[in-house]
Amino acid sequence: MQSFARGCKRRGLRIAFVPTMGALHAGHLSLIRRARSAADVVVVSIYVNPTQFGPREDLAAYPRTFRRDATACRRLGADVLFAPAGLYAADHSTWVEETQQSRGRCGTSRPTHFRGVTTVVAKLFNIVLPDVAVFGQKDAQQCDVIARMIRDLHFPVRLIISPTTREPDGLAMSSRNRYITPAERARAPHFHRALAAAAKLGPSRAATEARRLLKRQGFRVDYAEVANGRLCAAIFLGKARLIDNVPVKGARSKSADDG
Ligand code: PAF
Repeated sequence: MQSFARGCKRRGLRIAFVPTMGALHAGHLSLIRRARSAADVVVVSIYVNPTQFGPREDLAAYPRTFRRDATACRRLGADVLFAPAGLYAADHSTWVEETQQSRGRCGTSRPTHFRGVTTVVAKLFNIVLPDVAVFGQKDAQQCDVIARMIRDLHFPVRLIISPTTREPDGLAMSSRNRYITPAERARAPHFHRALAAAAKLGPSRAATEARRLLKRQGFRVDYAEVANGRLCAAIFLGKARLIDNVPVKGARSKSADDG
């Protein structure tokens, strides 16, 4: 992968990179399309990164749909599908840790998650050598953490944050939506609706109102918080933990797709 990337650079070709854990859905496909429009060569990676899962999380159960994913990548014109079998030596002992943006929100209930994400994304950047990397706005905190890592570690990578892809009823697309039952799926759109309604109240009231509305809908709320101009929340719905975020009216916000 690295020598292919170096070859691209020698020929003056720019690389756009979409890192994923597979189980590709319409949201990922929109990231690949965005990458296609941003550079000459598109690299998609599929790697279910063990270090970003906590000990009681869904690593073993995480959906793996490689053949379908590969077909989708080919159809969208991705040039390379990089799917390493493993990225960690048995005695791996080096970590990349961001210590500010990783705190709070998902970092509270998933204390080792972002360390796993920054470590694997740094590895992938060093292997794929991208000029541009495309991440989804749905993972707002991940975007904040990666933006900070790129800045702090001087990665020569431009970050493009691509808007969240939603089902027609507003539910944000996620690989973890597969975990919800039909009855839970029927309730799931209330998550986004509650956030959209609460965000209209502005930065000082949005989070309290979101918690109230989400509880009224019967969701178990992990958190609802305004961060970097967005109302971000996580809820539990059956076996799934779902996250979503929306811009808050009147708050200063970094826009999606700021590329
Ligand atoms: O967003 C994801 O799917 C993962 O966190 C990522 C960026 C591919 C790192 O494993």
